[in-house]
Amino acid sequence: MIRKLNLSLLFLCVSIFIWAPTDAISSESLLQGAHAVSSVMPKSCRACHRGMRMTVTGEEAICLSCHGTDSSRSQMRSRGFLVGQTAELADISAVLAKPYNHPVLTVANVHRQMEKLPEENVSAARHAECVDCHDPHQVAVDAPFRGIPGRRIVNTIVEIEHEYELCYKCHADSANLPGGSTNKRTEFKTSNRSYHPVEGEGANSYVISLKAPYAARADHPGDVSIISCRDCHGNDDPSGPRGPHGSNYEGLLIDAYEMRDGNSESQYAYALCYRCHERNSILGDESFPKHSLHVTGGPSGVGTSCFTCHDAHGSPRYQALIRFNDQVVRPTVTGKLEYKTVSASSRSGSCTLLCHGVEHLDRSY
Ligand code: HEC
Ligand code: HEC
Ligand code: HEC
Ligand code: HEC
Ligand code: HEC
Ligand code: HEC
Ligand code: HEC
Repeated sequence: MIRKLNLSLLFLCVSIFIWAPTDAISSESLLQGAHAVSSVMPKSCRACHRGMRMTVTGEEAICLSCHGTDSSRSQMRSRGFLVGQTAELADISAVLAKPYNHPVLTVANVHRQMEKLPEENVSAARHAECVDCHDPHQVAVDAPFRGIPGRRIVNTIVEIEHEYELCYKCHADSANLPGGSTNKRTEFKTSNRSYHPVEGEGANSYVISLKAPYAARADHPGDVSIISCRDCHGNDDPSGPRGPHGSNYEGLLIDAYEMRDGNSESQYAYALCYRCHERNSILGDESFPKHSLHVTGGPSGVGTSCFTCHDAHGSPRYQALIRFNDQVVRPTVTGKLEYKTVSASSRSGSCTLLCHGVEHLDRSY
């Protein structure tokens, strides 16, 4: 109650400044970026802080009044909150309603203002609201996380600089990670044996299957050697709004990725990987000489997924993102499960494991 009163008081003060035409400085410092353009949002704070108290909760309804359906947007236009011929705003609610999504629409009343993330309470409910990822007072076109607090360095909180820092707030050291979910920070660590190059350049200096513009290291102008969460996670519709709001593909992925065992290989089944890794190189056994046999299944035509052997994020223990899917790959009868390699460039190694009833005892390639 005291908090709410304080907020209303603060509003009163700020509002006086904002509506006094002589003082633009205070409004500028509170509201910057995309929502501060007065020719588009002439009612400033009131576009979101409505009603008597002008308090808002951080739930999505306010945002979706402009970033939702055409009909809610035209209501905002008719009430004068949104004016001018701005670029057409996209319907984020339709993307959030896709089968794999951030639970913005489905989880309510969990987000708290000024909450501390990563979450430290093991039993805290999980959530993701628009305002966890976008600061409504500072967000700018092409700077979607401006203003979102990131890591704490001694006593100051630095702002998010890279996308992965935002994601780590809920997918890394959170005490309330759901069962089956893993700490993404430990998977992408550049001190790991192998990792997809999100935090820094990769561990392998010759990844033969890579397609342009990607290069294992940026040696030539135009080479890209770093990728981002958004290169794999996000909207499956390339012409729709960008961002990890929702997708028709499992894992909130931008493209298809068949993770189950026992499928036939196709461009579609592993489309996500084939965006950046040449299909002909993988099936042509240019690196792992048994790729084709495992992925296509040889004469049987029943192969196994990349997911059976590779982790899409990183592998603390093995080269080449090797991490066996324990639903498919088991230890041998003597309890051994191991992948051995000589060096990253030797293209030889051996496996000790049990897969489809076939025992591999130090089977080498
Ligand atoms: C685009 C929508 C939007 C606009 C415009 C906006 N706000 Fe906010 N504001 C919010 C939301 C949403 C929250 C709650 C954030 C949360 O729950 O984490 C908030 C929270 C606040 C808070 C609470 C403390 C804080 O910093 O989070 C204050 C104070 C505030 N706004 C002041 C203002 C003022 C003053 C203006 C105009 C200069 C303004 N806001 C314009 C959406 C907006
Ligand atoms: C009154 C209408 C209105 C409301 C309410 C509103 N926005 Fe916006 N928002 C806009 C406009 C207009 C832009 C600028 C779009 C442009 O220039 O392309 C924008 C831009 C954005 C962008 C940057 C988009 C980009 O293209 O990169 C984000 C992110 C965003 N808003 C999130 C939010 C969130 C989160 C809320 C709720 C707290 C919210 N908005 C509430 C009108 C609104
Ligand atoms: C404020 C917290 C929060 C932030 C920040 C956040 N997420 Fe999430 N994310 C969630 C929650 C909650 C879920 C629902 C499943 C769960 O509890 O993990 C989820 C689900 C996902 C899923 C789907 C998981 C599945 O099993 O299908 C992916 C992928 C994902 N997030 C990626 C990201 C990426 C990439 C970022 C950064 C751009 C990000 N998240 C930022 C909270 C967050
Ligand atoms: C090269 C593609 C790729 C990149 C880059 C990538 N992911 Fe993923 N991610 C996947 C795939 C494929 C899956 C589904 C298989 C799995 O669970 O490992 C997945 C699953 C997930 C899940 C659900 C499983 C879980 O443990 O909760 C989350 C959350 C997630 N990723 C977050 C992230 C974040 C955060 C980043 C960036 C720091 C990121 N991913 C970067 C491909 C990628
Ligand atoms: C957005 C582009 C992109 C996508 C999508 C992608 N990769 Fe990669 N991948 C890279 C880059 C860049 C490297 C080079 C890393 C390096 O330099 O070590 C790489 C390297 C690898 C490596 C070798 C790592 C090492 O250290 O030897 C493996 C294995 C791999 N990717 C598997 C996959 C699989 C499986 C998928 C699909 C789930 C996938 N990739 C999707 C860009 C991508
Ligand atoms: C888990 C984090 C997360 C949540 C929750 C989230 N967003 Fe986003 N959003 C992002 C990221 C990351 C991007 C930028 C993607 C990019 O640039 O590739 C983005 C992009 C956007 C854009 C720009 C789209 C474009 O193509 O220009 C808008 C508008 C937007 N978000 C609004 C919202 C609204 C409104 C909500 C709540 C209803 C919301 N977002 C919830 C992470 C999130
Ligand atoms: C049976 C296990 C297995 C399966 C299934 C598998 N791989 Fe591999 N992959 C390996 C091994 C082992 C290596 C390391 C070979 C070496 O360098 O010694 C490797 C290396 C790689 C590399 C790094 C070298 C290069 O080619 O650039 C990429 C990328 C890769 N795999 C992608 C894939 C993709 C994509 C799929 C699914 C279409 C897949 N793999 C399926 C075991 C597998």
